[in-house]
Amino acid sequence: MKIAIIGAGNMGSAIARGLVRTAQGIDVIVSNPSAGKLDTLKKEFPQIEITTDNGMAVKGADFVFLAVKPWKMEEVIAEIKPALNYNKQVIVSVAGGVGSESLDGWLVKEGGLLPQLYIVIPNTAIATLCGMTFISGKRTVQSSDVYLTSLFDAMGKAMMVPEKLIPAGTSLASCGIAYALQYINASMQGGSELGFSHSQALEIVMQTMRGALSVLEAGGAEPQTEIDRVTTPGGLTLRGLEAMREGGFSQSIIEGLHASIKK
Ligand SMILES: NC(=O)c1ccc[n+]([C@@H]2O[C@H](COP(=O)([O-])OP(=O)(O)OC[C@H]3O[C@@H](n4cnc5c(N)ncnc54)[C@H](OP(=O)(O)O)[C@@H]3O)[C@@H](O)[C@H]2O)c1
Repeated sequence: MKIAIIGAGNMGSAIARGLVRTAQGIDVIVSNPSAGKLDTLKKEFPQIEITTDNGMAVKGADFVFLAVKPWKMEEVIAEIKPALNYNKQVIVSVAGGVGSESLDGWLVKEGGLLPQLYIVIPNTAIATLCGMTFISGKRTVQSSDVYLTSLFDAMGKAMMVPEKLIPAGTSLASCGIAYALQYINASMQGGSELGFSHSQALEIVMQTMRGALSVLEAGGAEPQTEIDRVTTPGGLTLRGLEAMREGGFSQSIIEGLHASIKK
């Protein structure tokens, strides 16, 4: 299996690194206009092929990943379209906010010919093989669905969803990384005010987050069940939770999730 990745930025490079670390029997080629990021990738993983020629990258590839900025997508598709064979090649867009209708409009060939098309939205944690990736397919066949899902499952977790859920998935998991880190930031600030150093507070909050996840994973429980377990009537946790509720804690998170899918 050969995978071409067009664009060696944050996401393109993270996918390339993830693929060579987790997938067996695949050749990865990455294309980018400037050499710096390509050289870095090549130094780290000599088995990755690199090129500055997009047309050459897609030649013979089974899957072509488009990992350029949304506003570059039309131009890049126009450039590689003559070299693409839709009978053999599957197109995968990782661009946020670019729907299949726009992609089809740019990809369509004479006679209305269109490829198997995926929209794939990973988050930055695929770099540490702990990603959450949403995949939505159009005109795809089951074997490609299974294969693509297995590639991203190996880099964390992957979930196939209808395209209409992609914005919600982006909000919850891609923007969500920043939201989870914002909780960590706020807790660290509070920890510092209560007397811990910055580095102690970071260590404590990270371990507390790991602890919260571990009790959820071990018990298969609902978060509320675990919250109830730590919360005794009239106790300290209850006092803290009430102060957080009065400050609009949960509501502000829900509003943030809604805000990040608004056009
Ligand atoms: N970062 C995330 O968390 C995340 C999550 C999900 C989806 N995405 C999506 O992933 C895509 C890439 O984002 P990113 O954060 O990786 O951006 P990025 O770091 O700016 O990477 C984009 C890359 O595309 C290259 N490029 C520009 N023009 C090109 C061309 N004509 N042919 C080939 N490569 C070209 C750029 O090269 P130069 O810098 O040399 O010009 C750059 O290396 C975006 O569409 C974004 O919406 C990102």
